[in-house]
Amino acid sequence: MRAVDGPCEGARAVVVEHLQMLDPEHLNPSPGVPDASFVRIEQDKADWSRWFYESVGAPWHWVDRLAWTHDHWREWTDRPEHHLFALTDRTRELNDAQALGYAELEQQADGDVEITYLGLRPGCFGHGRGGWLLTRALEVAWALPDTRRVWVHTCDLDSPAASANYRSRGMREFARTVEWRVPDPRDDATDTVTL
Ligand SMILES: CC(C)(COP(=O)(O)OP(=O)(O)OC[C@H]1O[C@@H](n2cnc3c(N)ncnc32)[C@H](O)[C@@H]1OP(=O)(O)O)[C@@H](O)C(=O)NCCC(=O)NCCS
Repeated sequence: MRAVDGPCEGARAVVVEHLQMLDPEHLNPSPGVPDASFVRIEQDKADWSRWFYESVGAPWHWVDRLAWTHDHWREWTDRPEHHLFALTDRTRELNDAQALGYAELEQQADGDVEITYLGLRPGCFGHGRGGWLLTRALEVAWALPDTRRVWVHTCDLDSPAASANYRSRGMREFARTVEWRVPDPRDDATDTVTL
């Protein structure tokens, strides 16, 4: 669904939860997942970031960045404060078939690190992978220099497991906001998900 400035005909109020972790001691780690690796992506970051956004986000109405050009993706990824990781199957070699999901982190002012995107591709849910992916993302975020807070937002268009996973790992809600969205022709993949 596409974001709009405020209420209008056909718009839906989407509830956005903002969660944070203020101390690495609050992390409640998930057990590791057999045959999975958490791999930093350093080559072709823009292409990978875009591919994950499209393949992970399609069922969950992630449409805001679908129109981004390659240059826009490069502006997003090709910065030292942007960090991209893949969850892969069995081997540390990364290719489309083995990439199960991803986590994207951005270092921000005042020691904030935002988990900007995190998710699994359809068909990969529910085997402990998302819990472990988030565990590794939080560990990496806290290992970055000067991190004081890790935060994330999720909304009621995302998987129902998303908020539960953040809370299970030790993140706590600090704000709740509403944004307005209208249906978008690119929402069609929504029906294909099985949790
Ligand atoms: C959110 C997501 C990463 C969770 O991954 P997963 O592999 O399905 O979840 P796991 O099996 O690892 O379980 C992790 C936690 O998720 C929660 N969870 C899992 N399945 C759930 C379900 N069907 N309903 C509600 N909560 C669920 C539980 O709190 C679980 O906690 P636990 O580790 O204490 O048991 C995954 O569902 C996903 O990628 N969803 C689509 C993209 C998305 O919504 N991303 C979040 C954007 S902010």
